[in-house]
Amino acid sequence: QSATVVVIGAGPAGLTVAALLRRCGVDCVVLERRSRAYVAQRQRAGIVESRAVRMFESWGLADLVLGGAPHDGILEFRVDGEPHFVDDTGGAEGPPARLCPQQVLVQKLTATLLAEGADLRYETADVSLHDLTGDRPTVRYRSADGTRHAITCAFVAGCDGDHGVTRSAVPDGVLTAHPLDHGIGWLTVLADAPPPAHPLLAVGSEGFAAHFPRGPHSSRYYLQCPPDDRPDAWPDARVWEALRTRLADPALTAGEITDRETFRLRSLVHDPMQYGRLFLVGDAAHIVSPMGGKGMNLALYDADLFARAVRDHVRDDDDSGLRTYSRRCLRRVWSDQEFSHWLTRTVHDAGDDTGSGPFLRHLARARLDRLFTSPTAARSFAELMTGLDPV
Ligand code: APR
Repeated sequence: QSATVVVIGAGPAGLTVAALLRRCGVDCVVLERRSRAYVAQRQRAGIVESRAVRMFESWGLADLVLGGAPHDGILEFRVDGEPHFVDDTGGAEGPPARLCPQQVLVQKLTATLLAEGADLRYETADVSLHDLTGDRPTVRYRSADGTRHAITCAFVAGCDGDHGVTRSAVPDGVLTAHPLDHGIGWLTVLADAPPPAHPLLAVGSEGFAAHFPRGPHSSRYYLQCPPDDRPDAWPDARVWEALRTRLADPALTAGEITDRETFRLRSLVHDPMQYGRLFLVGDAAHIVSPMGGKGMNLALYDADLFARAVRDHVRDDDDSGLRTYSRRCLRRVWSDQEFSHWLTRTVHDAGDDTGSGPFLRHLARARLDRLFTSPTAARSFAELMTGLDPV
């Protein structure tokens, strides 16, 4: 079998790569380890930033693949119970961001691809990559019925996330990993509880908390907790009590908790994001802390650059996009890492119990004060939130 591109992974990165390639007339095969149903229900990110909405519009895909309501651009910082509203569009020229849960984007991309007859193969196992440094790599895998397959191709898109297989096909010493452990733990909760009027970040003496929309009747919450904390230390009653205290909202409406996880905030960047004919896209190349909602949006950015680079190669015999893919992606990756780090440190150091000490606490409070009082600071924040920064 052969294809121009073999895409490994059918999450936001892989499905967007496949959808964009097909619009360039480039044939591709997508190999996904899990079942279609499993991937379609995995709930993670919740916002498609203005830049990414504009990207989908430029490909004629926005109406097909974007769900959720337009984001009205208002973010609430609640500091010691005091509300501060920040306009996170800052008059930027782009279309409004969309409060589109990740699983909605994945479901709509999948439906669009299947309707077009795209070659999506689920429950593939033992994927292995061969001859990546030649001009005709081979991808081998075993299908659910046990049959072994080999597909020769021109390019492999590693869209298999942080625990994927494609990065391990790169010899040691080629990729440099840049990890950061923020030393912060979070409990994240998904509940059938009414979403907030605006995405809400709360800072106070009890530690950080957040409340984000995840559809008309569901919410995602974050609660800062000890880095090695466990979900079973957080029964429902404790979750709602902590949220009511930290969000300074005694009347907060509860709901059935449908998911509960604890994790350490970490960031990770692999450099470069390519090796021979293998191109890493999205979480396979980088992980960013959830502050600022950049994880899925970076995957969409990488996918756009990769698809255009392959199109230029196939259509115009122009390899400049392929040669500069990693450098151009990493520029935005580091800009978004910096923004997420800035926001993560600000909302955590500004609390009283992060052990960061009074000096860092005053710095963080000063950053928030500047954000609330300086239109220039607010505009810079908005530029980064929308992804419309000129990087
Ligand atoms: N073979 C085939 N598919 C694989 C393999 C493998 N060996 N390993 C992983 N996968 C699949 C996973 O099952 C998953 O469906 O690759 C996909 C990777 O998807 P994501 O992890 O969602 O990563 P990405 O598409 O880059 O999207 C980034 O996803 O996890 C969130 O927070 C993250 O919002 C960000 C977004």
